[in-house]
Amino acid sequence: MLLHTSSQDLTSFNTLGLRSTAHALVRYESAAQLAALSELAAQHSRVFVLGGGSNVVLGASLDCLVIKVVSRGIRLVAETDEHWIVEAEAGEVWHDFVDHCLVQGWPGLENLALIPGTVGAAPVQNIGAYGVELDQRFHSLVAWDLKMGSRVEMSADDCGFSYRTSFFKQAEPGRWLIVSVRFCLPKSWQPVLEYPDLKRHAVLGSCSGQATPRRIFDAVCEIRRSKLPDPAVLGNAGSFFKNPIVDAATLRRLRGEYPDIVAYGQVDGTTHKLAAGWLIDRAGWKGRRMGPVGTHERQALVLVNHGGASADDIAHLAQAIKADVLARFGVTLEQEPVAVYC
Ligand code: EPU
Repeated sequence: MLLHTSSQDLTSFNTLGLRSTAHALVRYESAAQLAALSELAAQHSRVFVLGGGSNVVLGASLDCLVIKVVSRGIRLVAETDEHWIVEAEAGEVWHDFVDHCLVQGWPGLENLALIPGTVGAAPVQNIGAYGVELDQRFHSLVAWDLKMGSRVEMSADDCGFSYRTSFFKQAEPGRWLIVSVRFCLPKSWQPVLEYPDLKRHAVLGSCSGQATPRRIFDAVCEIRRSKLPDPAVLGNAGSFFKNPIVDAATLRRLRGEYPDIVAYGQVDGTTHKLAAGWLIDRAGWKGRRMGPVGTHERQALVLVNHGGASADDIAHLAQAIKADVLARFGVTLEQEPVAVYC
């Protein structure tokens, strides 16, 4: 296992394309390395586990041990009358994994097509899009406790999933390395087409009877490409803020002033999720620039790097947006990507 101690440029390892340098970096390729990784971790005061770099704001100079996860492998581990249980190594590219599952005839993840990042990062923020969240298709995962040097199997309950969060977001930073993730894909496949963008889609919207997993996959890719910037072309980390959850009284107050505010009722029946993109857009931020960064011209919720930006540039813009949204709407936005200064 090769530990790189000369400066490693991480600019191409984060989808925001922020300038960042690691002073100690190691690539995790297979489970045979896990014990040695724990020993290495013990020699550093901080550890940061890096997947596809699509949900991080990397500081300019990282002194912690960076573990870049590149392990590969996908296998069908069990098949019952009702389910396929499919396992993927953490370093698999999420979108390629979804595509591979469809090719193999294991549908169920198609609404999550084109989400950037790796399989191992997916449970950390419980990725979700177009009416499906990862926890609905999750079976279990294997994690490595770098501190204790032990392998732990975790169920969905252990992972504590909720909207864009999990146990891992609250855990001690750098303690856990997700090794592999198992998915439970039901054989009685049902299309999920309730999300407004899918209902409006030219083919699926008008004839949902024609929906196949591949058509949904293609439609989701088409919708995402039309609204979200491609990180390979314009650096970004997807939605930069979570959609805030407010109580009924807050929504009533806001509706009084902004009748067109976009809100979705939550399953608990009492709270509502506001579209952060709408709030930021309405506050006048869509397409605005602040130095080398700005918000995307078609989706105000996405912060973009027009070139040469640092974590501080992103932090200043995020702070300005948060302050403005709080002043106008009385709603606090919470940042989705993890800020890494270690
Ligand atoms: N909107 C505006 N102006 C904007 C952006 C959005 O008015 O600039 C309005 C839209 O018109 C729509 C509403 O806000 O009525 C919601 O927008 P959209 O449907 O594009 O979805 P979103 O709430 O912005 C969420 C997820 C995305 C996911 C999509 C589709 C969060 C924080 N974001 O975005 O996830 O792809 O729904 O399911 O939950 C991500 O997490 O990185 C991500 C991209």
